[in-house]
Amino acid sequence: MQKFHLAWDESRHSLGIPSLDRQHRGMMDLVNELAEAVAHGCSYEQAHQQMEKILDFVADHFADEEALMRKHDFPGLKQHAAEHEKLLREAATLMETYDAGHADRALLITAFLTDCVENHILHEDRVVSQYFREQGIKAD
Ligand SMILES: [Fe+2]
Ligand SMILES: [Fe+2]
Repeated sequence: MQKFHLAWDESRHSLGIPSLDRQHRGMMDLVNELAEAVAHGCSYEQAHQQMEKILDFVADHFADEEALMRKHDFPGLKQHAAEHEKLLREAATLMETYDAGHADRALLITAFLTDCVENHILHEDRVVSQYFREQGIKAD
């Protein structure tokens, strides 16, 4: 079975904003745990619980990230928040299709989460860190 893995690479993934970097690493760890469990043929229940854990963590992270953007007047906040919302909606829709009768979809969901976690950090979140750098904003 195909296995997904997200490896933290400081030069590519770090935004230089410690609180966000910490959360991004945490998100990657949780997705890796899911990928590992799915690769080892975990039960429907286990995968489901882990997916819920990931979505909760991601939703909290998005809220923290948006609060930080708001605090520092990031001009692209509205668009960025809309992208967060879209990702959560897509993940929730996938989760709805993941019921006991469709346990084989765990792999698909893992692939989606792997892809969207990394892509969002590398693209949308990078724009935020560029703005912070340009404005000389030091956030913890
Ligand atoms: Fe983020
Ligand atoms: Fe983000």
